Amino acid sequence: MTTDQDTPSATPTSAPPAGAAPLVLVLHGARGDLARRLVIPSLATLHRRGLLPDRWALLGTGRGKISREEFVEHVRGSLEEFGHEGTTADDVEALTRHSRFTDEVTVDSGGGLPEALEEVRRELTESDRLAEGDQEPAQHEIGPEDVVVVHYLAIPPQAFAPLTEAIGAQGLNAGPDGSRATVRVVYEKPYGTSPETFRELDAVVHRTLEEEQVFRIDHFLGKEATQNLHVMRFANELFSSVWDRHHVEQVQIDVPETLDVAQRAGFYDATGAALDMVVSHLFQVAGQVAMEPPRHLAVSDLVRAREDAIADFRPLDPENDVVLGQFEGYEDIEGVAEGSTTDTFIAARLWIDNERWRGVPFLLRTGKRMAASAQRVTLVLRRDPVHLFGDVVPASAISLSLAGDGAIELTTAVKKPGPDLDLAQGTAKLDLDDVHPGEPLPAYASLLHDVLEGDRTLFTTPLGLEAAWTAFEPLLGDRRPAVQPYAPGSWGPRAADALAEPHGWVLGREA
Ligand code: BG6
Repeated sequence: MTTDQDTPSATPTSAPPAGAAPLVLVLHGARGDLARRLVIPSLATLHRRGLLPDRWALLGTGRGKISREEFVEHVRGSLEEFGHEGTTADDVEALTRHSRFTDEVTVDSGGGLPEALEEVRRELTESDRLAEGDQEPAQHEIGPEDVVVVHYLAIPPQAFAPLTEAIGAQGLNAGPDGSRATVRVVYEKPYGTSPETFRELDAVVHRTLEEEQVFRIDHFLGKEATQNLHVMRFANELFSSVWDRHHVEQVQIDVPETLDVAQRAGFYDATGAALDMVVSHLFQVAGQVAMEPPRHLAVSDLVRAREDAIADFRPLDPENDVVLGQFEGYEDIEGVAEGSTTDTFIAARLWIDNERWRGVPFLLRTGKRMAASAQRVTLVLRRDPVHLFGDVVPASAISLSLAGDGAIELTTAVKKPGPDLDLAQGTAKLDLDDVHPGEPLPAYASLLHDVLEGDRTLFTTPLGLEAAWTAFEPLLGDRRPAVQPYAPGSWGPRAADALAEPHGWVLGREA
């Protein structure tokens, strides 16, 4: 294989899926924070794990053209600072060998991207024949029209619509033969910041692209444990038999964070916890927990099952079911507006109006500068209605940690060891990265891999997002509750505790 520094040709270190088409990842906003922290490291991980096709190239774009050498340095810097565990010098080498950079594309100017793409498409397919020193073209010769091009929009959300229009105007929404099947576009969150802006953006997107070309990322869906939710349920009678209102008293989806917002105060002050986390991540996870068994494991069935559950969310009741908070000292952070009323904490009680979940509160909580960091889904189980043991039976729970590689925990009533028949609570834990053989992928790497494979199971669709915005909308108007102060390092405003009665929040109870 050639190792020519300037030729984005082959990745010799891994066994790619047989017959995989060559790939070009066009990383828009390639010098931005998201690309640096998440996308570039994920690409390196896919390389290390042998999950990229034989031939691929990374094409960065951004405002103000930089030289290839400067971009290579940027890629190297990203991997040195944020590379996942196990990233090797070989991965760094491979990514930098394949890197290029062009100016940003706009409606009026291609910025060099159409030409660069044409060149890379040609090089990738020429090298297909020449890399092994073949004299004859391969039997099933791969041409430039077979190359899969993924546009990854790692750019500020307000730039999504203009860049989408630019992609259309420059004819980058289709392959050289006019086919849409080889071009995909990845959108980051937030995909809209209100029902109206969501609809406006989606209209622009659908004027330019077919829905099958669109991949809207919600990285909570890519987490190992989130994906395990439906495996756990639909592959195990033990869990599926208790997954309903007859057995579950409460569902808690709790994502407290000790994190500050100082690094991104401008973005955060204009967004807040509810928009940053609830209408996206926590709603999607709630949909994943609540969904009915899909008819098959086909992508469309799984997506529909999750989104049907979201369609059953009752619109939030801000007066009775939502507590917003702001940590003390937030206003003093540079970049935060004076007198800001932005929420850095939200606790909400969500109701799902269907046969399975009627009457079971889904308790959602997240916030910054809280007492601990965790990402936990807990199904608190109802107690034995016969009360054989009286009121002393501790509650049982099924719990998943979504953080890191994920874990499943079962908390159950057991006999306290000893001569008496006293009850105690015991917890068994299964770390999902302990399951052999297997090696978990970080959420972003997993979703990027799905994009390359064209698998849309873990991506959102306009139908699901429309339903999410409908449930969230009451929080956006005059009915939005005032933010209540809370001490940094605490579990949020006291008023949030009342939402989780009678059981109380599982996390933080011991604090
Ligand atoms: C992001 C939010 O989408 O998710 C952040 O914007 C939040 O505010 C982050 O901290 C949490 O995700 P994770 O899984 O990377 O910890």
